[in-house]
Amino acid sequence: MNIILLGPPGAGKGTQSQRLVTKFGMRQLSTGDMLRAAVKAQTPVGIQAKAVMDAGELVSDEIVSALISAELAAMGDETGAIFDGYPRTAEQAHSLDDILKEHGRTLDHVIELEVNEDALVERITGRYTCANCGKGYHDTFEQPKQLGVCDKCGSTEFKRRPDDNEETVRTRMAEYRAKTAPILPVYEARGIVSRVDGMADIDEVTLAISKILS
Ligand code: AP5
Ligand code: MG
Ligand code: ZN
Repeated sequence: MNIILLGPPGAGKGTQSQRLVTKFGMRQLSTGDMLRAAVKAQTPVGIQAKAVMDAGELVSDEIVSALISAELAAMGDETGAIFDGYPRTAEQAHSLDDILKEHGRTLDHVIELEVNEDALVERITGRYTCANCGKGYHDTFEQPKQLGVCDKCGSTEFKRRPDDNEETVRTRMAEYRAKTAPILPVYEARGIVSRVDGMADIDEVTLAISKILS
């Protein structure tokens, strides 16, 4: 099973991906996470991408499609893929078709997380993750059971993303509206789009997605 989780910044793509990985043994392929790892490691891609990401704009199609292609090549054929934050442009959607074909995979579902834009700034500015294992949290909506200690790995170190400020979020939303939302009709024409209410509780969203997948 190969699926795309589509939605604006803060819609819950990463949060739901982490849950689907645990529940269905799928693999999360997040171009945002790959790029942040490249920035941290100061690879040539990371050095090039950093300023673009900090501004909330889109990194080049070639760079992100190459990252996805390399990850899929390194993955076992039997493991399902969750595309999180990719594709984001018509060009990337086209590349994904080619990449999937190359690996003998088909796209089963495109799940759109429908959210109210007004809620997204609060979600994003309250977000943080475990610095050790990457588990996501939120100041209001998803705190660790014991405050300051990661549920998953016990670490006490957490971090916030440099692009998670209101100004950058507004640019990221505008990029989504202008370049990403327009790719939906292509998938709709194939009859593989499902919509989920992304404003529901995190657990309810997971349940709704699980129903679509099973
Ligand atoms: P990326 O990392 O993909 O960021 P994004 O699309 O802006 O999405 P986010 O990660 O902010 O949101 P999310 O939907 O994952 O939300 P989350 O689950 O964390 O991309 C970052 C940058 O990299 C881009 O701006 C671009 O520069 C570059 N890039 C990446 N991919 C690219 C590509 N393909 N092409 C070009 N450039 C690319 O949830 C947010 C918070 O809300 C969390 O704290 C969570 O706990 C909380 N929350 C989640 N769901 C709920 C809920 N139902 N109720 C209450 N709270 C919730
Ligand atoms: Mg994310
Ligand atoms: Zn952790």
